[in-house]
Amino acid sequence: MKYHLETICTKLKRGEVVALPTETVYGLAASLKHPEAINEIFSLKGRPKDNPLIVHGASFLQVEHYCEEIPLGLHILTETFWPGPLTLVVKAKPKLLPTQVSAGLETIALRVPKHSLTLKVLEEVGPLVMPSANLSGKPSATRAEHVEIDFGKNFPVLDGGACCLGMESTVLIYRNGRWEIARLGAISSEELGQILGYEPSLFSRKNGQPLISPGQKYRHYAPLANLILDQTVSPESVGVVLGFSDREYPKNCRFFELGTSFDAGEVSKNLYHVLRRLDQELVDKIWVDMDFPQAGLWLTIAERLFKASC
Ligand code: TXA
Ligand code: MG
Repeated sequence: MKYHLETICTKLKRGEVVALPTETVYGLAASLKHPEAINEIFSLKGRPKDNPLIVHGASFLQVEHYCEEIPLGLHILTETFWPGPLTLVVKAKPKLLPTQVSAGLETIALRVPKHSLTLKVLEEVGPLVMPSANLSGKPSATRAEHVEIDFGKNFPVLDGGACCLGMESTVLIYRNGRWEIARLGAISSEELGQILGYEPSLFSRKNGQPLISPGQKYRHYAPLANLILDQTVSPESVGVVLGFSDREYPKNCRFFELGTSFDAGEVSKNLYHVLRRLDQELVDKIWVDMDFPQAGLWLTIAERLFKASC
């Protein structure tokens, strides 16, 4: 159910969980002052307790005191990309936060989102944890209606319209003197490279090495439909195509449109909405056109499609 900003702030201050819009995806929000509301987020989402949450603030100033140390590059990253779709994982100051936020890790993930309504809420209520507002494993929510589908018509939502990016923030973690990408997202490694002077590499798990971002091990972004990414399979044999509006596909196939093949921003904005439509329209399998560059934001889109297909 959609509520006004004032009521949403009152609910958060009382220790209730609500959904808020951001430029990336909608988030399920709880105040850091209410550990029981944070626990409720885990149970509402069906989220494993070992998957930590991102702390969102209205500005760097509002979250700075949670950092035990300020790693090299942090200031330039926050000045360039905040407010915006970048999450930074740094060593946390001990005992300042409810333990379930970091799921027992010594680090804390921080982000300042870019949405005028949610920035107002953060200024009024203070820092909030905010995982994506979807049931665990399902595609993220990029519209208020998606939140209502996952959590029920009565669930309180601040309606901020369709998310303008539609893709989660890029998660960077500082390790061994460098920033590494713990989760691909709306900002590409190329864009980060221009600011840092080196392109942060994607953290890849080597044998026996622990996961640095626990969220990586769980099934994600998946509709019920079986996504067929194997390009040697013919679209005709599947009968349904997920592709681009500027391309030709077999006439007898049902078509779901991601956007145009030359606009990664448009595709990213549409992606979760289209994946959710597959479920609403009871599509059981769909051939996906994977013929696009494996770089920049396209790389994130490819990774999400891959995870949605598993
Ligand atoms: O765009 C976004 O980041 C959205 C909006 C609502 O802000 N939030 C979001 O949260 O995507 P969530 O919980 O769905 O994903 C957060 C990711 C997970 O993969 C989690 O494992 C990782 O960030 N993460 C959180 N804290 C971490 C930490 N201390 N160390 C490593 N990874 C962490
Ligand atoms: Mg999520």
